[in-house]
Amino acid sequence: MPEVLNEEQTAFLVRQRVARLATADAAGNPHAVPVCFAFARSSIFIALDEKPKKVPASDLKRVRNILENPEVALTADRYAEDWSLLAFVMVRGRAELLEPDNEEHASAVRLLRGKYHQYETMRIEENPVIAIRPEKAVSWGALDEPVSHGAGVLDTIHGRRSVRRYLSKKVPDEIVDQVLEAARWAPSPHGRQPWRFAVLRREETRERLADAMGEEWRVNLEMDGQSAEIVERRLEGSRRRLLDAPVLVLLCLYLEDLDEYADVGRQRGETTMAVQSLGAAAQNALLAAYGLGLDGGWMCAPLFCPEKVIEALGLDPKLVPHALLTLGYAEGDPPKRRARQSLEDLVIYRE
Ligand SMILES: Cc1cc2nc3c(=O)[nH]c(=O)nc-3n(C[C@H](O)[C@H](O)[C@H](O)COP(=O)(O)O)c2cc1C
Repeated sequence: MPEVLNEEQTAFLVRQRVARLATADAAGNPHAVPVCFAFARSSIFIALDEKPKKVPASDLKRVRNILENPEVALTADRYAEDWSLLAFVMVRGRAELLEPDNEEHASAVRLLRGKYHQYETMRIEENPVIAIRPEKAVSWGALDEPVSHGAGVLDTIHGRRSVRRYLSKKVPDEIVDQVLEAARWAPSPHGRQPWRFAVLRREETRERLADAMGEEWRVNLEMDGQSAEIVERRLEGSRRRLLDAPVLVLLCLYLEDLDEYADVGRQRGETTMAVQSLGAAAQNALLAAYGLGLDGGWMCAPLFCPEKVIEALGLDPKLVPHALLTLGYAEGDPPKRRARQSLEDLVIYRE
């Protein structure tokens, strides 16, 4: 069955943080409210959160309307003073209420909490969730415009998430260049930038890498005594991720320009600083990608088979592959995003 939303509409909708939900009662009286939402497997989910006025969720006008008349519309839009950037997607469909004992309800709550950290401390799991099954989508304007206008750095930090499934939608070269530009500006020891970035786009190249890393991983999993079925499933999952993402960026350490010390302790410190800065370059890249309308993911696999990676890609043996970033447009909100520990658990004050 063809998807109701095309790739451009999906990519636009998945990146919006707010939409307007329009419902109508049996007599057709309209009602529209702003809502937070998540999107996965062609359904849109909206939580019914605790209201300041303590209105039971079932008394909310939108819920009463849906019970009387399940036809709804949801519009997500981008406004900017530069009107060449205006865009919206409107989805029409049927809404239903998922009750808390329902499996889809539990996964919708996980999705919503993954997208909005504010939901982590709200008891949305106790209320029904609205699920919209799209039947028609219309859109207008510059859906493809990459920049998330008006988002501050903290919004970008909170919004970024690891994505493991992408649309096949192509990523423009200029956006990849801007992601690499952000990585280039990461802090590094002595400002020496001890890294190199390999960009992998063609399917044959990604396949070569997947084959090389898969071989090594198979040996490791078998050594761990994993069953043949689990080995196959995990290898297939990892391979799919490498082939599914339209762009891969391999982050390698390059230690040739760093200081050399006679003692082991300082030499080790020098290498550790280089690794720390590679992490900073990775995070710069992921945040820039998110800010530019893309999503990204982090795979540690190259760290465990650096020689295989160098050989498969024909890279300089002085490079040490450390991490692989996947880049593309998310096909939906990620299903299993983990909640964060509180600052109380993470911070020690010694004032
Ligand atoms: C050093 C490092 C290695 C990682 N390796 C993997 C990996 O191999 N596979 C994967 O799916 N995610 C990997 N991740 C992503 C984490 O699982 C993810 O960041 C974490 O679950 C938090 O989710 P979020 O990024 O969506 O906030 C890695 C992250 C880091 C920092």
